[in-house]
Amino acid sequence: MNSKIIGIGGALPKKCVTNDDLAKIMDTSDEWISSRTGIRQRYIAEDETTVSLATLAAQRAMEQAGVTSDDIDLIVVGTVTGDYTFPSTAVLVQKNLNIKRGRAFDLSAACSGFIYGLDVADSFIKSQKAKCALVIGAETFSRIVDWNDRSSCVLFGDGAGAVVVKATEENDVGIKYCKTYSDGAFSDYLITSGGVSSTKTVGTVTMKGREVFRYGTEKFYLSFCELLEKNNMTVDDIDLLIPHQANVRIINKLVEMTGIDSSKVLISIDKHANTSAASIPLAMNEVRNEIFSKKNVVLLSMGAGFTWGASLIGFKK
Ligand code: ACO
Repeated sequence: MNSKIIGIGGALPKKCVTNDDLAKIMDTSDEWISSRTGIRQRYIAEDETTVSLATLAAQRAMEQAGVTSDDIDLIVVGTVTGDYTFPSTAVLVQKNLNIKRGRAFDLSAACSGFIYGLDVADSFIKSQKAKCALVIGAETFSRIVDWNDRSSCVLFGDGAGAVVVKATEENDVGIKYCKTYSDGAFSDYLITSGGVSSTKTVGTVTMKGREVFRYGTEKFYLSFCELLEKNNMTVDDIDLLIPHQANVRIINKLVEMTGIDSSKVLISIDKHANTSAASIPLAMNEVRNEIFSKKNVVLLSMGAGFTWGASLIGFKK
């Protein structure tokens, strides 16, 4: 049994905040933010929450896939900004979509949450424990950034992206490779200032930007090289590369190191900023129709932990 992505959806909050808008409330500028990160705007949740955004993205993915609530038997949500400590975001999406079968749970891998979720769904489907999964990345990072720390708060945005992953007996298509990694030795570089058990709060985001930049680029590069090697491919065989959207300079560095044609690399950080686990499926949603004509699409993630991952997906044979 193989697994195949058959629908993609995304959801953004209504409120769009540009760099110029931020410059009105803190000591920053469009020039500083865009030149260092590639970010021009981000969406910030007001009435929306992680659950409402995740639900909408999932609905849109199910519509494109042509599946109903009765078909879904697994929901995995990558998030570190759920509406509640418990129950999970996933069970609330299950309730909102009136899904009665299977199981639903959240997965905490920060910005790698979506690829980790894809890995789990792929494994459930390949071991025939599930037939049709929703994999969602959903975050409201604006609620946990420190709005007094201009070096980190300008980097993040809110949103959700979702895919429907279905079992298939077809070969040479679908999730051809998915590998996830972590190394807790890097945990201090990107960490919240508190947590339920340590401080009885959720804390705010703290980041050692330069270290994240350096090691993030390295993890991207190593996992991409391993994916190419294990699949006997070169960068020329890739039709589309969708990296986690943390910083356009990290992506440009990867392009330089690997020699991949930059026109094959999807950039959406200018519109969405860094939406953590939502970043990759939201970027996929930008090309939700065209992507189904691509043979080799690579997803790359890296995030707090560090966690990172790489996946090769064939949307057509
Ligand atoms: N506006 C204006 N000036 C600023 C801002 C801001 N928003 N933030 C910092 N500065 C100032 C600093 O105070 C510093 O001033 P100083 O020289 O007078 O002390 C100056 O800009 C340079 O600051 P640096 O931190 O050295 O800037 P750097 O060039 O390293 O860029 C950045 C910082 C953009 C954060 C970079 O390190 C980076 O992108 N790192 C990776 C971050 C990342 O990708 N995080 C998320 C990845 S994982 C995940 O997605 C969860």
